[in-house]
Amino acid sequence: MDNSLKGQVALVTGGTKGIGKAIVDKLSNAGVQVIVTARTAAKEITNGQHFISADLTQRESAETLAKEILGKYGRIDIIVNNAGANLSPGGGFSALSDEHWINDWQLNFMSVVRINKALLPTMIEQKSGVIINISTGAAKQPIWEMTMSYSSAKAALNVYSKALANEVGSKGIRVNVVSPGVVKTPLMLEFIDNIAESSNITSDEAFKAVMDKVGVPLGRMAEPEEVANLVAFLVSTEAKYINGTNYSVDGGALPTI
Ligand SMILES: NC(=O)c1ccc[n+]([C@@H]2O[C@H](COP(=O)([O-])OP(=O)(O)OC[C@H]3O[C@@H](n4cnc5c(N)ncnc54)[C@H](OP(=O)(O)O)[C@@H]3O)[C@@H](O)[C@H]2O)c1
Repeated sequence: MDNSLKGQVALVTGGTKGIGKAIVDKLSNAGVQVIVTARTAAKEITNGQHFISADLTQRESAETLAKEILGKYGRIDIIVNNAGANLSPGGGFSALSDEHWINDWQLNFMSVVRINKALLPTMIEQKSGVIINISTGAAKQPIWEMTMSYSSAKAALNVYSKALANEVGSKGIRVNVVSPGVVKTPLMLEFIDNIAESSNITSDEAFKAVMDKVGVPLGRMAEPEEVANLVAFLVSTEAKYINGTNYSVDGGALPTI
């Protein structure tokens, strides 16, 4: 890791658990002032991290967050839009109500659009900034039985990210997507428990069913740190020519080139 991140100001949404927490720890260790958001504070906030409570499904959250961050730090160098989840049941199109679709799109797509809109004017003024949007491999390889509305929202996030990279690249701002496959996080463990419960099987059987369905050549789930390592590289100056790209970190699960 180079020293270019020292003293930078970063927002990591959903930074209290799983992948987000691993990103927060990695950036904090590199000397970044990290602002962490989630609905509930983590038990311990370390390394001078600044926690702001926010429910990102609420329209006004992005503006409130931006006001607090810019009021305190006067700048923003890095945004990692990580908060996200599959909020809907499996079972395909007939199991999904309007509300399921709207909830998935609010959290996984609109929250990102709103946060970037609130903070981009400052990045544009600075003539610098890096945005990482956390998507999912399921946006490229949808699993209709499990994640139809979630993966649709993340696919929209992929297209939006490319468009945004095209728009703001000439203003000194890079936008990239990181697409994890299956990662051992509280969200994933909850997902597996839900499958076990709804299919009347054990958690071990549900775990195996997910692994078989996704098909990971490396034969295991990722650790959150393995996603955070890629994010930390992409936000550093080591990656200063990387823009408008979507990187998989999935152990080879995506079957296409
Ligand atoms: N785990 C995987 O296998 C996997 C695979 C592909 C993609 N991803 C993506 O990676 C990202 C992180 O997933 P994860 O597995 O690390 O999730 P996680 O363990 O459930 O952590 C999610 C984080 O987001 C916060 N959050 C959830 N809903 C929120 C809301 N409405 N407003 C504000 N914050 C909210 C949570 O805190 P609170 O609950 O306190 O709000 C928590 O800090 C997500 O975008 C997910 O789609 C994960």
